Amino acid sequence: MVDNSPRRGGVGMGAMIHEPVLLPDRAVTSLADYLARRRGGQAISRARELGPGGTVKEVSLSGLRGRGGGGYPTGRKWAGLRNDAAGSGDRFVVANGAEGEPGTFKDRAILRADPYQVVEGLAVAALTVGARAAYLCVKEKFTTEIRRVTVALEEMAAAGLTGDIPITLVAGPDHYLYGEEKGLLSAIEGDAPLPRLLPPYVHGLFATGPQLGWSARPQAYGYGPDDPNDDDDLGHSNPTLVNNVETLADVTHILARGPEWHRSRGTSESPGALVVTVVGDVRRPAVAEVELGCPLGEVIEELSGGPAPGRTIKAVFSGVANGVIRGDQLDAPLSYEALAAIGSGLGSAGFIVYDDTADMVSVARLFSRFLYVESCGQCPACKFGTGEITSYLERIEAGLGSEVDVEIIGRRLETVTDANRCYLPVEEQLVIGSILREFPEDVAAHLESRWPAERTYELPKIDDLVDGRVVYDPRQGAKQPDWTYAEG
Ligand SMILES: Cc1cc2nc3c(=O)[nH]c(=O)nc-3n(C[C@H](O)[C@H](O)[C@H](O)COP(=O)(O)O)c2cc1C
Ligand code: SF4
Repeated sequence: MVDNSPRRGGVGMGAMIHEPVLLPDRAVTSLADYLARRRGGQAISRARELGPGGTVKEVSLSGLRGRGGGGYPTGRKWAGLRNDAAGSGDRFVVANGAEGEPGTFKDRAILRADPYQVVEGLAVAALTVGARAAYLCVKEKFTTEIRRVTVALEEMAAAGLTGDIPITLVAGPDHYLYGEEKGLLSAIEGDAPLPRLLPPYVHGLFATGPQLGWSARPQAYGYGPDDPNDDDDLGHSNPTLVNNVETLADVTHILARGPEWHRSRGTSESPGALVVTVVGDVRRPAVAEVELGCPLGEVIEELSGGPAPGRTIKAVFSGVANGVIRGDQLDAPLSYEALAAIGSGLGSAGFIVYDDTADMVSVARLFSRFLYVESCGQCPACKFGTGEITSYLERIEAGLGSEVDVEIIGRRLETVTDANRCYLPVEEQLVIGSILREFPEDVAAHLESRWPAERTYELPKIDDLVDGRVVYDPRQGAKQPDWTYAEG
């Protein structure tokens, strides 16, 4: 079963699997097309047949891991939500299609190629955890996806394929934290996407219990099993399941084809295939479906043609959420375990490539500024820390820095995660820390004013990616740390 050799073939963009499943060759444009070509409806039928316990077992057996970035086992997450001790009140399910990770365009590609597979997976999840309602969240600027999902929702509801549980499409703001699961729940409730203290399975959607913070007793005020003497005065936690849209599409295919089918691809710890994005210093930016376990360098080469002639790869990043992968580490297989073993991570498999002309101090400044701007400021060490690190990187980049500035950055990286509500400052710590550690010669060149400033750097936050042409968000550079946009 464990097979690290890439299996090639398939769709136009060079998918490294025999049969692309998440990204079919031709987009699915109607429910009739979905039913005819895509085993549509089989997953929900199977879930009804298996019942909630059997469905969770099937998902667990497949070994599916969440595709939103963390790689958490999906079956374990679902089982936790079904557990009576998970909390009280209603249960809700959310499909996370906010997709704001730089370098990543896979959820939008999946929704464009076949929104029905996502809606069916969401309906299966809602049925399995006994949800009162489900939400499918995208950004309001994703107009193509909104159009396609709206049609899919209407058609599938009319055909009885989504069951009795209502699914609402939510069009949210263009902030990075809208994709963070606790920020996402705040946004669904109509607030700004500010991450709250407790995770969705503890403090779910429309929770009516008081927000007690980390010191709360697990059984108090609705955050535990129902107390028979509780007359509902104390509120309910409404445990909520959040899954990425790719994870839910995977669930659809796993239920239709069986867990062994999923396990027949990939590695034992990272079974299956996933949708990879490759952008940056490559000949042809690409998004395509790839079997897990293929060497990362081959994936980049096959999908994107690699760097320009005469250039070599200096560094690769999986979004801005993991440590840097050096050009000499590209033999590492595309898997959760292999990329963690080299000090990085698979993340949401959006790979940003830099060639040997790149200045890693400028890249660090670009990524740090993004995280600073997108930080919401609820935790002082995160907002001030990312801001200060960004300023010192700017000084060093401009040739005005000193060893002391590098030391200060090191100290801020140690404290930037203090009292953090969410993972964003950990990303700062991982990505900036790793760049400074792995590319000391670039830092030294700036300290000695030896770096020729001949390149400009644009944050690869993707607005569109079709047929080898990528468009980065032109507004991100003007976005300010208070989430307004500078004029001009
Ligand atoms: C700053 C930040 C941004 C995130 N953005 C996204 C996103 O756009 N889409 C997504 O699915 N998960 C995102 N995540 C991860 C989610 O919080 C959550 O773990 C995920 O949706 C769970 O789904 P999964 O178990 O299917 O992976 C983000 C996390 C952080 C810390
Ligand atoms: S850690 Fe940073 S981004 Fe996350 S909630 Fe706190 S201030 Fe906001």
